[in-house]
Amino acid sequence: MNILIFGASGATGRHLVAQAIEQGFHVTAFVRNPGKLTLKHSRLRVVLGNVTNYGLVKKTVKGHDVVFSALGASSPFKYDECIAYGVQNIVRSMEESYVDRLISMSFIGVKESRPQGGFVIKYIAPVLLHTEIKLHQEIEYLIKRSALNWTIIRPSTLSNGPHSGVYRIGEYVSATTPVSLISRADVADLMIRQVKDSSYIRTAPAIMY
Ligand SMILES: NC(=O)c1ccc[n+]([C@@H]2O[C@H](COP(=O)([O-])OP(=O)(O)OC[C@H]3O[C@@H](n4cnc5c(N)ncnc54)[C@H](OP(=O)(O)O)[C@@H]3O)[C@@H](O)[C@H]2O)c1
Repeated sequence: MNILIFGASGATGRHLVAQAIEQGFHVTAFVRNPGKLTLKHSRLRVVLGNVTNYGLVKKTVKGHDVVFSALGASSPFKYDECIAYGVQNIVRSMEESYVDRLISMSFIGVKESRPQGGFVIKYIAPVLLHTEIKLHQEIEYLIKRSALNWTIIRPSTLSNGPHSGVYRIGEYVSATTPVSLISRADVADLMIRQVKDSSYIRTAPAIMY
């Protein structure tokens, strides 16, 4: 199984790469800054580039079975239009190359799932993180209107905690505390599980402890 990961040098992306390798997949990591991805493995290929480069994205997508996106802006307060443009490139390249499985990381703070996120996500995030929310709503729109077999994963507040494999997931799970956490390693765990699980195709489950 050939897996392609966009955002592979990021804090969650690096977990995705490591866990995918651990599970025996052949992994392509698409990165613009190779120094941030130190893992080396015979089943890991690194493609250097920017997701805004449609030609390169299309060439890279070809031949893969599953595509992951853990793309994100360098700051939650900065709107980076390159990312929405990049997701558009990914979706278009996949449709044109008949690669149809996309697993993408979003944020529970988007309008549809915000009430599930607890006090902070419900009342404070829309004020403080409106830029990040706007970006994820746009990305979700681009993905949902595609013909792909997509799964959008909506994590609550991210932490750098351990990989436990134990968390709550679903379209209706709700926070039981004002701030609900989930580790990046467990978000990666859930995303990788989607490779062999079709239950969440064309849905957007939330994930939290
Ligand atoms: N913070 C939270 O509590 C929270 C909660 C839920 C969801 N989220 C969302 O989760 C996502 C991932 O979070 P994270 O902390 O893992 O993010 P991160 O560490 O900032 O990683 C983002 C990745 O995207 C890459 N990237 C950005 N623009 C790119 C471009 N134009 N071309 C190629 N690659 C590009 C970055 O590359 P470089 O390494 O070169 O910068 C990096 O690898 C974000 O979208 C964030 O909004 C965050």
